[in-house]
Amino acid sequence: MLMNMNALLETAVENHFAVPAFNIGTCQFLNGIIELCEEVEAPVILAVHPLEQNFQRESGMAAVLKAAHNARVPVCVHLDHSGIADIVRAIRNGFTSVMIDASLMSFEDNVDMTKQVIKIARPLGISVEAELGTIGKNAGAAEEGTKDIIYTRPEEAREFVERTGTDTLAVAVGTAHGIYPPDFRPQLKLDLLSEIRQSVDVPLVLHGGSSNPDEEIKEAVRRGISKVNIASDIKYAFYKQLRRTLAENENMIEPFDIYPEAVKAMQQAALHKMELFGTVGTAQLYHF
Ligand code: CO
Ligand code: CO
Repeated sequence: MLMNMNALLETAVENHFAVPAFNIGTCQFLNGIIELCEEVEAPVILAVHPLEQNFQRESGMAAVLKAAHNARVPVCVHLDHSGIADIVRAIRNGFTSVMIDASLMSFEDNVDMTKQVIKIARPLGISVEAELGTIGKNAGAAEEGTKDIIYTRPEEAREFVERTGTDTLAVAVGTAHGIYPPDFRPQLKLDLLSEIRQSVDVPLVLHGGSSNPDEEIKEAVRRGISKVNIASDIKYAFYKQLRRTLAENENMIEPFDIYPEAVKAMQQAALHKMELFGTVGTAQLYHF
């Protein structure tokens, strides 16, 4: 069942679990994630980055919306890290949630941009995520980010939420997009997260949670993170297996022969995250 982010996260906040946002880069990810979530009765956010929207085009987005509509579990279709043009395109494509990422702009410009998007989205019942502070970026990650993380300040978060009326807030508490290099040790500032949690009353979002230690992520959920973005971890699992399958079967050319093992590996990585977030089995908590 298709719903917006507010409806999806309300139950998560009440019951202290987090919903994963998995990036949908191809239809193999779409079908694999929906199949898994129905199997384990988990709500899910299908996240599409603007570059993924470009790549899959309107027909691909129609498939994402159709799958969300038909799913036996709660599903939100959400646009990841965007500017206005991509947001308008996603709204036309039927998305129920969008993220305006003006986090690299000044605080005032971030407030203005977020307000502009809310003015467009709210009358349509589309929820809005904004970002304050900057999430780091690792090599290979498509998403925006900075080399050095600018941490979200609790007092700024409060002012930002009050002035914009954003539905959810992505915070920078020490994660970076992508898979971390071997010498990089991510440091999640859990105390800062708790302070931010006390300062604002909207659901909080963690980006760049790939390859942070499991215990750290679990603790972040316990301290009030309601949505965790997962892109790199499932892509890594999928393409690692795909490379293996292709290397071991030089003459294989049928997509229905090539992809199933990669989808299975991706599903395993996704399930592991859902277990950490406490999402498994929670579809039953939704009333629709
Ligand atoms: Co992100
Ligand atoms: Co990540």
